[in-house]
Amino acid sequence: MASGDRLRWWADARYGMFVHWGLYAIPARGEWVMYQEHILPAEYARLADQFNPSGYDPDAWVRLAREAGMRYMVLTSRHHDGYSLFDSEVSSFSATKRAAGRDLLRAYVEACHRGGMPVGFYYSLLDWRYPAYFRGPQRDPEGWVTLVDYVHSQARELCTNYGQLDILWYDGAWPYTAEDWRSDELNAMVRELQPGIVINNRAGTPEDYDTPEQHIAASEQGRPWEACMTLNGSWGYSRADKAWKSPASVIESLVRCASQGGNLLLNVGPQADGSIPEPSERILRQVGAWLRVNGASIYGTEACPFFTSGGLTTARGSTVFVHMLRWPGREMVIPRVLNQVRSAHMLAGGQPVAFQQRGDRVVLSKLPAKAPDALDTVIVLELDGRPRELDYFQAGFEPAEDASSEEERTIAGGNDAPV
Ligand code: GLC
Repeated sequence: MASGDRLRWWADARYGMFVHWGLYAIPARGEWVMYQEHILPAEYARLADQFNPSGYDPDAWVRLAREAGMRYMVLTSRHHDGYSLFDSEVSSFSATKRAAGRDLLRAYVEACHRGGMPVGFYYSLLDWRYPAYFRGPQRDPEGWVTLVDYVHSQARELCTNYGQLDILWYDGAWPYTAEDWRSDELNAMVRELQPGIVINNRAGTPEDYDTPEQHIAASEQGRPWEACMTLNGSWGYSRADKAWKSPASVIESLVRCASQGGNLLLNVGPQADGSIPEPSERILRQVGAWLRVNGASIYGTEACPFFTSGGLTTARGSTVFVHMLRWPGREMVIPRVLNQVRSAHMLAGGQPVAFQQRGDRVVLSKLPAKAPDALDTVIVLELDGRPRELDYFQAGFEPAEDASSEEERTIAGGNDAPV
């Protein structure tokens, strides 16, 4: 299958839920706790005797993701600490063989299938329990082969035992190369077992998409990309981390991604009992409420070059969605538009919006003084074709020959605009 076809659903989805969940939820100081506190593997492994999540209800996760407007999920099948949420023939450090006594990953897959939610597995190549990981293939060639064989075996299990898998989200190849991990061979196997699967770039090969972490950056090579971000400052559950982002800032991140043609994979870190922290739920639900009204401006959209002060745009064909993250007041201008605007209206409610085109500037007027939606008010422009932008360098600031009169080029927004 061509990469473009394989990725279509994924790119249209735009917004997914990342779930970091494992033994580290017990100490509740993030998923790097083993490394950060230099806990020896034998000591850390005792957490597996306690980890038996009584409140684990993956159907509730899927329901929350749906209500939040998220259109795929990615769960940590195994993180750097080496604990597998799944049954593995090549590891006894797993949910099935320790206190949990069941395949936690399978329950998640089944819940996703029930809820019509595309299923993703995060899988860490590195495993801190293997000394060869720290020594590397040069210093410990034999140990390295054992580690890589184990990784390939687990990837085979993940791709064989859980039915259709939609996303494989590798992590932790660093500081080694794709050759060291035999990633081409690994991915050839994965694609043979799961022909439709979408694979990220973190096994050291580019594969289907790039994964900027904790920041939003479109690929300079024009490759598909997905920004992964946390809801507070942590991936795995951290009891002390109360630095929750606001719904407005999540929406801004989502719009920023979509306006540059990328996805957002937003993380939750469930507690040891399997429940998602209440603040995460609350924030996600608020974003979901916004998406229920404004989803057309996100799902299935493409990057759009237009922008304005306080606003970004997304597009679908000849329709442009102007996202006003910071409402300017009764008037606003979208500059450098080479298209004819056929009509303009509010996405929520559909009221027509008065507009005029003055040269390359689209002036929207008679707008409400206060933002109709404080999170992001979306205005829809129907154009005569796909968005065409007046090039930055071509445009400069010299008056064009058919320049509008001085009077017409007044700055929009007056003192009537409450902030
Ligand atoms: C990093 C971290 C990891 C986290 C991941 C998410 O690679 O090592 O803990 O899972 O990023 O993007």
